[in-house]
Amino acid sequence: MIQKTEPAKKLAGTLVMPPDKSISHRSALFAAISSSTSVIENYSTAADPQSTLSCLRQLGVPVHTEDQRVEITGVGRDGFKTPPKPLDCGNSGTTMRLLSGILAGAGIECELVGDESLSARTMKRIIDPLEQMGCAIDGREQKFAPLKIGKHTGVKPMRYPLPIASAQLKSCVLLAGLFGDEPTEVVETIPSRDHTERLLNLKTEPFGTGKIIQSSRNDVLPAQNFQIPGDFSAAAFWLVAGSIHPEAELELNRVGINPSRTGAYHILEEMGANFTQTNSTFAGKEPVADIHIKPAQLRPIDLDPKLIPNCIDELPVLMVAMCFADGKSVISGAEELRHKETDRLSAMAEILNSAGAEIELQEDGMIIYGDPNFTPRPSRFNSYHDHRMAMAAAVLSTRSVGICEIEGAECTSISYPQFWTHLHELTQS
Ligand code: S3P
Repeated sequence: MIQKTEPAKKLAGTLVMPPDKSISHRSALFAAISSSTSVIENYSTAADPQSTLSCLRQLGVPVHTEDQRVEITGVGRDGFKTPPKPLDCGNSGTTMRLLSGILAGAGIECELVGDESLSARTMKRIIDPLEQMGCAIDGREQKFAPLKIGKHTGVKPMRYPLPIASAQLKSCVLLAGLFGDEPTEVVETIPSRDHTERLLNLKTEPFGTGKIIQSSRNDVLPAQNFQIPGDFSAAAFWLVAGSIHPEAELELNRVGINPSRTGAYHILEEMGANFTQTNSTFAGKEPVADIHIKPAQLRPIDLDPKLIPNCIDELPVLMVAMCFADGKSVISGAEELRHKETDRLSAMAEILNSAGAEIELQEDGMIIYGDPNFTPRPSRFNSYHDHRMAMAAAVLSTRSVGICEIEGAECTSISYPQFWTHLHELTQS
């Protein structure tokens, strides 16, 4: 689908953010391996978290949905059934990597498949440590989906210093560790999102400048009874849209503000953004708040590479913000962006170039020469079927002087099915 966007005269209104994708996946997976029944409220209707639910159903887990309320009867660590056909993870890296940790730990014979984009993403990063733990897992060319998982003779303890700052990798290893009699220890030096350790109450200790997280069969797995917070990664599109548009006043309700996710908020604040927070509270173990956004004159920034995992999904739209800052911004240490649903560094470079922004693409980042008076050229943007590319291009197009077109715009349904309706509401009110 090609979505046409008109220049926005203003952006005004209040939105409730879609449920958090990362937390939705985890709440369902963790509910499935607990021994209790969980009721998860406000579960995401987006395609990725729905892939997780359909995989769980195929594994014999009772999952009942009523709108966004999901009731899951946990089958315990050892209650999965051998699935009748390959488990389809769709476009979802989180489904494939976290579920692999659980199923490899449990030793369930099965196959995990994904769409074209997911089948091109490396799974070697999870295959290597899982094999080291004694699990039986293999992939096409030993690194891609389809992944084949088999029985094993026991999960061996391991101390694993994370070679990449990735929450999916960290979670995969810790989840497999839940099946070992002796503890698995993951050493994290650069922090990434901490939903897994938080929602499972895993033992965590400081270690140097980072932390060690432990898991084993002795961990009692809690039921997951809570309301999923709004997705900060979805909110980030509006944080930028409201900051770069001179006629903007936005309010986002019930946004998850877990500090391991909100790098983009603080980066934008450092750039001069005008945000306020109200109604801070908790949704289960996750902090939430309402965020108010007003326009701002943005300053350029040289991003600390250590912050990259904390804003990995928000970097594309941060690049859009940098185009409107008063000078040169630098992103480095962001090579991971090349391994997402598409190569997000190249795709963003193409989008920003066709809008007429002054940028230099680097192997591990981008240099952006911003200008507060930048007016994106009306263009046709290729989303490469990557939801975050489509939404970043849409935010960019709000400041254009003419009609822009976004190819493959339906891909926003992967994380934010209401995105185009929300954009329309904000420009019309
Ligand atoms: C996620 C972790 C991140 C992120 C992805 C969701 C998660 O991936 O990009 O959208 O839920 O753990 P990596 O762990 O590969 O960086």
